[in-house]
Amino acid sequence: MMELKTARLLGLLGLLLLLLPVLAPARELAGVGLLLHAAAAGAAADGKAPPSTAPAQKFVLEPLPYGYGALEPVISSQIMQLHHDFHEGVEYVGTLNAVLGPLAGTGTATLPDLVGLVGRGGLPPDQELVVRNFGGGHWNHQLFWKVMAPPGSANTSRNNISPSLAAAISGGFGSVDEMLSRFKLLADGHFGSGWAWLCAAADGGLRLLDTANQDNPLMGVVLKDPCVPILGIDVWEHAYYLKYGPKKPDYTQAWLRLINWAQVSANYDAARRGDLAAIGAAF
Ligand SMILES: [Fe+2]
Repeated sequence: MMELKTARLLGLLGLLLLLLPVLAPARELAGVGLLLHAAAAGAAADGKAPPSTAPAQKFVLEPLPYGYGALEPVISSQIMQLHHDFHEGVEYVGTLNAVLGPLAGTGTATLPDLVGLVGRGGLPPDQELVVRNFGGGHWNHQLFWKVMAPPGSANTSRNNISPSLAAAISGGFGSVDEMLSRFKLLADGHFGSGWAWLCAAADGGLRLLDTANQDNPLMGVVLKDPCVPILGIDVWEHAYYLKYGPKKPDYTQAWLRLINWAQVSANYDAARRGDLAAIGAAF
C-alpha cells in the first residue's frame, strides 16, 4: 500500500511537471474556452444536435466493471490496480481535470467530441496535445476495460458474436480466427507504446490498424475519416510487463481469451449509430 501511495505521489509530481507548459493562466483559459466552443461548433457542423447550455462535466474515472483480480491469471490484480487507478486515474483523468476542470461550465463538449477533433483543426495548438494524449488515454482505457471479461466467463464465448458483427468479420477477413491472427500480428509488431484496434468505418466495414501512444482511429492524426474502435488491446509495457516481462507475444496470445464478444458486438452496433460515448469514456 505504501508503495502504491509513493507511486501516486511521484505520479502527481510528474503530472505537475507535465502540466507546467499548459497551465499559463490567461492563455489557458482562453485556449480551453476556444477548445470547448470549437468542439461544440464541430459537433453542430457534423449534423449532431446542438450542445445544451448545461454545465460541462468534469472527466470521471469509472470503476472497473469487475474486481482487480477478475482477469487472473491472464492479467494480474497488481497490473489492473496500477493500470486503472494510477495510469488512467492519476495520469489521464487527473490531467484532464487539472487542465479542463477549471473551465467546467463554459461549454458542453464531451470527450468523444474533443478526441474526434484531434488533427482536424478544431483545437488550439497548445491544447491539442493534452486532448490527444490524456483524452485519448481516458477514452481508450474505458473501452479497454469493457472489452475484457474474466477468462472462461459467458461473455467470452464466440456464441455472443452478433449476426451483424459476424457478417462484417466474415466479409472483411473471412473468419474470426483470421481476423484475430492479423490483430495479434499488429499488436506484436507495434513498435513502442500504443494500441492495436479493430474499428468500424462509416460504411460498416471493419479495419485493423495500430496506433502510437494514446492515438486512436477516431483522430484525424491517424485517419482522414474516423473509424470507430470496437476492440482494442493496450500494448504499452504498463499493461503486461510486470507479469510477462519482454514476452509481449505471450501477453497478446493470452489476452485473446479475455475478449468480451457480447461487448464487442454492442460496440459495433453503437459504432453504426455513432454513439461513441457508449464505447469509450463518455465525459
Ligand atoms: Fe494502458
